[in-house]
Amino acid sequence: MADAHDPGRRILLTALAGLTLVNTPLLRAAPGPGNVQGNSPGLVAYFSRSGNTRVIAGVIQRSLGTDLFEIEPAAPYPEDYFQTVAQASAERERDIKPALKHSLADIAPYQTIYLGFPIWGTTVPPVVRSFLSQHDFTGKTLIPFITHGGYGAGDSEAVLARLAPDATREKPLVMECDQERRTTETVARWLEAIRS
Ligand SMILES: Cc1cc2nc3c(=O)[nH]c(=O)nc-3n(C[C@H](O)[C@H](O)[C@H](O)COP(=O)(O)O)c2cc1C
Repeated sequence: MADAHDPGRRILLTALAGLTLVNTPLLRAAPGPGNVQGNSPGLVAYFSRSGNTRVIAGVIQRSLGTDLFEIEPAAPYPEDYFQTVAQASAERERDIKPALKHSLADIAPYQTIYLGFPIWGTTVPPVVRSFLSQHDFTGKTLIPFITHGGYGAGDSEAVLARLAPDATREKPLVMECDQERRTTETVARWLEAIRS
């Protein structure tokens, strides 16, 4: 029998996912190219814009041999960092839960869900709220992994408790990571200096 940790099996599952799993009960929509869905009782579900949270998601998924699901908005956020901040802030103020690009049709097979996201505006990003609202976490173990740019996890614990009230929540991994803002501003200053 194929080993769940065998990378060959995972690559095969990834390749097959787009072809054969689309109409199975597990998936409502086509999975993203990086998604892995097999028969693991564990799931890593994550959102990442600039890649920090994605790296952690990959480490957890490869270490534990879990399934993997990338939470993505149906309409991508702007490429520009500052436009994204403005849009995210407007969504937050109006409590908008954006549509997701892909759906995980059934969370039932998963007992443990590792949920990864960056802090946006001192809280849980709108798309992650969409994901939480679409699924019933009753009886599940939710293990968050959270990245931030230096200001901590904000009110994310309270938001998770509100949107997944019947899950058992484990202590999250909270990690400070690079900020797209700092990178953007540093490169902009450098470009200005070499142009003048
Ligand atoms: C729209 C937006 C809002 C952010 N708001 C915060 C914040 O309130 N506090 C903070 O510490 N970092 C904030 N950050 C920085 C990210 O949380 C941090 O860089 C994170 O590691 C990015 O993860 P990612 O690379 O997986 O997208 C924000 C980033 C973006 C894009």
